[in-house]
Amino acid sequence: MQDPKTYFIRTYGCQMNELDTEIMAGQLQKRGLTPIEDEESADLLIFNTCSIRDLAERKVMGKLGRMGRGQKKNGIIGVTGCMAMAKKNSLFRKFPHLDFVVGTNNITDLGTVLDEVLYTKKQVYKTEDRFEENLDYLVAKRDNKIKAYVSIIRGCDKFCTYCVVPYTRGQEVSRPPESIIEECKKLVDAGYKEITLLGQNVNSYGKDKKEWNCLFHDLLYKLDKIPGMERIRFMTSHPIDITVELMQAIRDLPSLCNLVHFPIQAGSSRILKKMHRIYTKEQYLEKVDLLRSIVPNVSLGTDIIVGFPTETEAEFQETYDVMKQIRYSLAFIYAYSPRKGTPAMRWKDDIPEEVKQDRLQRLMELQEEISAEERNTLLDHTLEVLVERFNKDGRMLKGRTRCWKKVIFEGDESMIGTLQQVKIHSFSHQTLVGELAKPLQGLRVI
Ligand code: 5AD
Ligand code: SF4
Repeated sequence: MQDPKTYFIRTYGCQMNELDTEIMAGQLQKRGLTPIEDEESADLLIFNTCSIRDLAERKVMGKLGRMGRGQKKNGIIGVTGCMAMAKKNSLFRKFPHLDFVVGTNNITDLGTVLDEVLYTKKQVYKTEDRFEENLDYLVAKRDNKIKAYVSIIRGCDKFCTYCVVPYTRGQEVSRPPESIIEECKKLVDAGYKEITLLGQNVNSYGKDKKEWNCLFHDLLYKLDKIPGMERIRFMTSHPIDITVELMQAIRDLPSLCNLVHFPIQAGSSRILKKMHRIYTKEQYLEKVDLLRSIVPNVSLGTDIIVGFPTETEAEFQETYDVMKQIRYSLAFIYAYSPRKGTPAMRWKDDIPEEVKQDRLQRLMELQEEISAEERNTLLDHTLEVLVERFNKDGRMLKGRTRCWKKVIFEGDESMIGTLQQVKIHSFSHQTLVGELAKPLQGLRVI
C-alpha cells in the first residue's frame, strides 16, 4: 500500500454531504493528492454516504460490493458520511476490502486516519458521536465559482421519529459567527454571487451557544451587511423554529432570497404527532399565514413523507388538501422508508409499497399542476437571474431566479456569473424561457 497520489470522492445525499466532500477534497489537495475522473484507477476512493432512505444505502452497498471484486485491490477505499455513522465498524465485516470508516463528526481527522491505514495496514475507523468545532472550512475545494455552500450549524436535536439524522450527525453544534462571516467575506471577494447557509436545522442556529447572543436572524443581518453580498439562501428549516424575527429578516434584507423551505412532512395532526413534529396542522397553517402576511411575495418549499406507519387514506387526503391549499413552489415528496435505530422502527411498516407509490404519484401530479399554473403567472414578468452556465444545447444561457426557478435565455458567455434581468415569454417543460430585458423597465423582481 503506497501513499496515494490521486483521489476520487463519490458523494451521495444532501447538500451537507456535498460540502463535506468539498472540505475533504481540500484536505487531500493540501496533502498533495490530485483529483481524477476515473474512480476505478484512483489511489484513494472515498464514498461519502447517505442513510436517509433505504435506497440511498442500498446504492452504496451495491457499489462497495462491486468495487471489492474489481481491480481496486491496491488502492485505498474509505467510507465517510452518514452510513459510516449508522454502521460504524460493522462495515468491515461486510466489506473486508474496506480500509477506513470516518464519521460525519471526524472529517478533520481524515489525514490522520489515512496515515494510520498506511502505517499499520489495518482497517481504521473513527466515528465520534459529537462534533468538535475544529474543522477548517476555508480549505474547501469548490468547483462551482458562482454559488457556494457554507455550513452554519451541524447536527439535529429534533428527533423526528422517522429520521436517522440525529444519530448520524449528532447533537446541534453552531459555528461561531466570526468564522461564518470570514468565510462569506472571502467568498464574496472571490466573486461568489450566491451563498446557501447549511444546517440540518438552520433556525436553531445559536441556541446552543447563548453567550454568543447571535440567533439565526441576527446572523442573517450580519451577513447581509457584507459589501457585495448578492444572494443568501438557507436550508433546511423546522417550522417550529421559524420566528417572526426571521420572517422580518426575509422581508427586510435585500440579499435574502424569498423562497423558504417550510417542510410540513404530513397534513394530518395525528400523523404529525406520531412523527414527533411538535406542531399540529392548524399551528403550521397559522405560521404560513403569518409568514405570508409579513412577506407577501414569499414562495414556499416543502418536504413530504407519504405512507408513514398507520397513515389512512383519509389522513393522506389531508396532506393532499393542505398541499392544494398552500400551493408550494417546490415540493420534495418521499415514500416512508423505515430506518434502523429510529423510534418509528417500533411500528410496523404497514402501508404496502403500491399504496405508498400511488400516494406519491398523486402528490407529484398535484404539485406539477400547481407548478404549471405558477409558471403561467410568471409569463411577461421580468425576473432576476443568476447566470450559471450554458444550457445543455450549448446555445442558451441557464440560471435561476431568486425563487429557484430555472430560466434559459439567449446571451453570451461573458454573462456567466452575473445577475441579469430576463423577461419571461414562454416555458419548456419546467424551465422558463425568456429574453434579456432592458434593465429597470417595468421591473418586478420575483
Ligand atoms: N423515509 C422517507 N423520507 C424521509 N425523510 C427523512 N427520513 C425519511 C424516511 N425515513 C425525508 C424528510 C426530510 C427529507 C430530507 O427526507 O421529508 O425532510
Ligand atoms: Fe443523508 Fe440526512 Fe446524512 Fe444528508 S444528513 S447525508 S440527507 S442522512
